Amino acid sequence: MKSQVFRGSGLAAAHIVALALLHYGCGAEGDRSHAMQQTDEQPRAAVTRAEFGQLPDGTPVDAFTLTNANGVVVRAITYGGIITSLRVPDRNGQFDDVVLGYDDLAGYLEENPYFGAIIGRYGNRIAGGRFTIDGQTYTLATNNGPNHLHGGVTGFDKVVWQAEPFERGDSVGVVFSYASPDGEEGYPGNLDVRVTYTLTAANELVFDYYAITDKPTPVNLTQHSYFNLAGDGRGDVLGHQLMINADHFTPVDSTLIPNGAIAPVAGTPFDFRSATAIGARIDQDEAQLRNGLGYDHNFVLNRGDSAVTHAAQVYEPRTGRSMDVYTTEPGVQFYSGNFLDGSITGKAGRVYRHRYGFCLETQHFPNSPNQPDFPSTILQPGDEYRSTTTYVFGVRP
Ligand code: GLA
Repeated sequence: MKSQVFRGSGLAAAHIVALALLHYGCGAEGDRSHAMQQTDEQPRAAVTRAEFGQLPDGTPVDAFTLTNANGVVVRAITYGGIITSLRVPDRNGQFDDVVLGYDDLAGYLEENPYFGAIIGRYGNRIAGGRFTIDGQTYTLATNNGPNHLHGGVTGFDKVVWQAEPFERGDSVGVVFSYASPDGEEGYPGNLDVRVTYTLTAANELVFDYYAITDKPTPVNLTQHSYFNLAGDGRGDVLGHQLMINADHFTPVDSTLIPNGAIAPVAGTPFDFRSATAIGARIDQDEAQLRNGLGYDHNFVLNRGDSAVTHAAQVYEPRTGRSMDVYTTEPGVQFYSGNFLDGSITGKAGRVYRHRYGFCLETQHFPNSPNQPDFPSTILQPGDEYRSTTTYVFGVRP
């Protein structure tokens, strides 16, 4: 497989290497292992590019492999910006892949419940697939029962993004960009989107979202990785300890549309303000859990004065792995993998059974375009959509 390494002491050096490789076409075989095995005392961060596959129409799909000096490795592909693997150490220094997915592009093309993907234009649901801006009603696909979900039939998870790798000091990353044309999936306006993935030396994976439009349009971008901190396919996530920094959540109807209330979590199975096992209350006979078939709800984050909120923390006791989520968004959808039912066989033949993964999708609230009391998701021409979410990976003794 043809691949290229981007590495150096800064962005300029990375560009020079990249240009040289492009110009002379000398991307070496096995560059990724080469990057990992250099003889420096301290391994350095690197980003490599390789072919991953082709769409049926021949469009190439590339994979970017981001490695930091601690050996953490993130691989993301240009199809959907999908994170296909994320290798982090446990408390004994053993690395494992902690995200669900497939070994090859065919898996993602065949059936993908949004494993690892960028979601847009609108993450989560819009009731009835309709909304009105300035007196004009727009109709979207209803691809989730009566509602519109995750950007429609061909959302941002199913398009091929342009991608540029970069290195900045000891961080490496890739900038994904996509021009969504006016009317795509029924949404108004040409929307230019940029999503930057950065892996830092502190084992942070940072998502920076940016968009501009030429007509008012709803925008609610998120990332849909499914995590299992015990390791991909190693069992259900019910023993993971979860903290969500939210005094309130948005209760839903049976089609998962918020009923408009901002309800207190106190005294309900939605109170994750102190770390609690995901499975501790998930099967209680409670109306909201019945509607979600478990957890599939938006939590209203407690936001202090700072722009960034510590939204959530997850800890897996057997491996000691932890993940902290920080975001500028007002909400997070906690989804406990309720629709996984063993019908999907993912990486290395692993079967994804009920609740084998969880998602923490930072976002604005579901159905905001039809809920005037929720924070607005309408991007206006001349304004910039900016949003940042960081997942921090760690271990506890
Ligand atoms: C989101 C939704 C869930 C489900 C998953 C994908 O998290 O809220 O209901 O659709 O995506 O299966």
